[in-house]
Amino acid sequence: MRRQGPIRGSIPLRPGDMVADRYRLLQEIGRGGYAIVYRALDTNSDQEVALKTIRPITPRPEETLGRFRREANLIASLKHPNTVRLLDFGLDDEVYIAMELLHGRPLSDELEKHHRLPINRSMAIACEILKSLAEAHVLGIIHRDLKPENVFLVANPDGTESIKVLDFGIAKLTKDAPQFDPTALTLQGRAMGTPNYMSPEQAKGQDLTPHSDLYTVGILLYEMITGRPPFAGGTAMDIMLRQVNAPVPRLPISELRDTPIERAIRKVLAKEPAKRFASAEQMLAALGGLSVAPVGQLAPARTLQPEGALPVGAASLPKAPALGSSAQSLAVSPLFTRPVRSRWLSYLAIAGYVALAIALALLLYIILS
Ligand SMILES: Nc1ncnc2c1ncn2[C@@H]1O[C@H](COP(=O)(O)OP(=O)(O)O)[C@@H](O)[C@H]1O
Ligand SMILES: [Mg+2]
Repeated sequence: MRRQGPIRGSIPLRPGDMVADRYRLLQEIGRGGYAIVYRALDTNSDQEVALKTIRPITPRPEETLGRFRREANLIASLKHPNTVRLLDFGLDDEVYIAMELLHGRPLSDELEKHHRLPINRSMAIACEILKSLAEAHVLGIIHRDLKPENVFLVANPDGTESIKVLDFGIAKLTKDAPQFDPTALTLQGRAMGTPNYMSPEQAKGQDLTPHSDLYTVGILLYEMITGRPPFAGGTAMDIMLRQVNAPVPRLPISELRDTPIERAIRKVLAKEPAKRFASAEQMLAALGGLSVAPVGQLAPARTLQPEGALPVGAASLPKAPALGSSAQSLAVSPLFTRPVRSRWLSYLAIAGYVALAIALALLLYIILS
């Protein structure tokens, strides 16, 4: 059934509806702040696609249309396998974006289910996000809205996992990008994004550079490893103020204290963009260097079970941490472990406690006799 003018925002869509005389809606599969995404059948190719449409009631229809237009145009230029692939879009009477249909779940669902993820998987996911960003940044595109809902964990039929970055809806071109359009800057000066994942400069409504996306990858990595973003809690304003002013909390996992992973996270969460990694490639190379090592090189006690192997993305970019197949056990590399000095301090402390206990027992014995 075809209903008239469905997508400009007034009439809700339903499974069975046709969009642009081509896509038959099958089922709603997700929704975000301004869009509803359906699994749909492309009747031209007989293939299933993901069809993103505007939510029936959006507060600012013109802004939403502008956002849709921007998203379609920007993802059309992104070809990296870690970025969701655009198939087709319509921006006239019926406004929609047709994308490759992904099977799996958003990172937000995975975090809700498991609370936190194994370190090696968290690192691998961060690296795959960085590969998507590396391409976007080279083209002058800043995502600006990275968050667990916009990172999709694709479950491949062979049991491996790949990562796709979604939702370039509030992405923006940097001033030196070839397609830069100064009239598209209507949102300048207004903080856009999600407080938990905003960089300090984003919280202040300032102009952004790719360093802002890198900061957010740092936040995501912190959250995947610990189960909580570093500045969560309180009102949106509280969180934004902490993004701007509060020191980065130490990782609440003793094995990671003072390790290169903690240092990398602290570096990318620097309040000043210039103090972070210089580019997505550089951060990728730094995280890749902190990779997990195969079993046999380390004590088995530290073995972590991987939950899925990730295929490495574009060959032109630095390699992500090398992950084995899902059947292979992985161990934390020495870079993950605490320095030897702190282990000696622990032994000393234990010896101290034992000596103290003996002294107390002796004292008690002397008093009682
Ligand atoms: N290509 C896709 N395949 C499968 N699910 C998708 C796809 N694109 C989006 N989704 C789902 O729909 C949700 C909302 O999509 P998104 O593009 O983020 O919308 P919004 O811009 O409103 O946030 C995502 O979090 C995801 O769960
Ligand atoms: Mg979204």
